[in-house]
Amino acid sequence: MNDFNNNSLDKTLDEKIKKTAELIKDSKSIVALTGAGMSTESGIPDFRSPGTGIWEKIDPMKFASIDSFIKGLDLDELINLISDLDITSIFTSEPNEGHKALAELETINKLEGIITQNVDMLHQKAGCKNVIEIHGSMKTASCLRCNKKIEFDEFLAETIEQQKIPPKCPCGGIIKPDVVFFGEMLPKKALSRSIEYVSRCDMLLAIGSSLVVYPVSSLPRLAKEHGAKLVIINIEKTPYDNVADVVIHGKIGTVLPRVVKEVKRLMK
Ligand code: APR
Repeated sequence: MNDFNNNSLDKTLDEKIKKTAELIKDSKSIVALTGAGMSTESGIPDFRSPGTGIWEKIDPMKFASIDSFIKGLDLDELINLISDLDITSIFTSEPNEGHKALAELETINKLEGIITQNVDMLHQKAGCKNVIEIHGSMKTASCLRCNKKIEFDEFLAETIEQQKIPPKCPCGGIIKPDVVFFGEMLPKKALSRSIEYVSRCDMLLAIGSSLVVYPVSSLPRLAKEHGAKLVIINIEKTPYDNVADVVIHGKIGTVLPRVVKEVKRLMK
């Protein structure tokens, strides 16, 4: 907790952008932690925004839990859902101004890495080199028995050919997209690298996440415990707003490019 925060909520957007840029300029190791809000401006819905969040429309325990996936999903129901929610937009979406601003921050050596909960690969598409996909990605799928990895396209082709989800691997095992389902452990390496990054960074930028899903939700606290500055950019409030050094309740695609422009001006 710090003195700055008590006043921060009253500051104008311009002042908060300037303060954030100053913190970035003065920090040596900056890490971004991103969530689904990062990609809404690319046309991909988030999970918990009132009215538009995916979990308001479907039951996550039915469609996104490892237990129900292994038991088997109703293919017709799933196909209807995919078209209703326009889930395939994930494969055609392009990075937005927010993704591009983070890539630029990395290029000017002001971003060490991104820990993302997103599975849409848009940070990489924007040119970011160091991205930890802590909830996996939609790029590939793997057999839960023999660990054989296939491209996501092949997973879809197998699903259509076998007319069932999950489809089976030739070894008899279940093939599952390489995204983390509810009830699953996070990828060990991604989690340990994330903890390492957050423990030694001196600034954490939490962007477009409700910061409520464990264990990612514990990372901002870990950063603060190790003395890092915490800046939050999110439309809605988060559980960390009262301990953050700066909180900007605004749209990422508008706010982040302005922050990066100010960082570059300060660094001239
Ligand atoms: N600009 C700023 N903030 C935004 C924008 C935007 N353009 N669009 C949405 N947001 C904010 C919302 O206000 C919301 O608080 O982004 C946040 C997204 O939160 P969630 O929908 O909860 O997404 P996320 O935090 O990534 O969820 C974590 O939950 O179900 C799981 O596995 C899923 O990885 C996901 C995890």
